[in-house]
Amino acid sequence: MSYYQRHIFFCLNQRDGGEAACEQHGATAAFDHCKRRVKALGLAGPGQVRVNKAGCLDRCAGGPVAVVYPEGTWYTYVDNSDLDEIIDSHLKDGQVVERLVLPPDVGR
Ligand code: FES
Repeated sequence: MSYYQRHIFFCLNQRDGGEAACEQHGATAAFDHCKRRVKALGLAGPGQVRVNKAGCLDRCAGGPVAVVYPEGTWYTYVDNSDLDEIIDSHLKDGQVVERLVLPPDVGR
């Protein structure tokens, strides 16, 4: 069994010069919301869920993006209700939120 049951990484990358980057779309606020909510729901910690910051994950065109392991499910999100759905459905219960899954051909 792995140390965490599920791990979500948020790209928080920021770029100068107008090139697409997740931080332009509120990635840090999303990360903070997710971290707070996972903790408030009692889901954080060993054997449960870990919420982590990441740099560029090289899928910037679909930003903001986050990826959940061990499933390797890539998400894009718009607002806190999208994040809540990912938390409640996937991080808590293992059910992928299909409507927020990043299409496989989205890259940088
Ligand atoms: S800036 Fe977020 S994936 Fe590249």
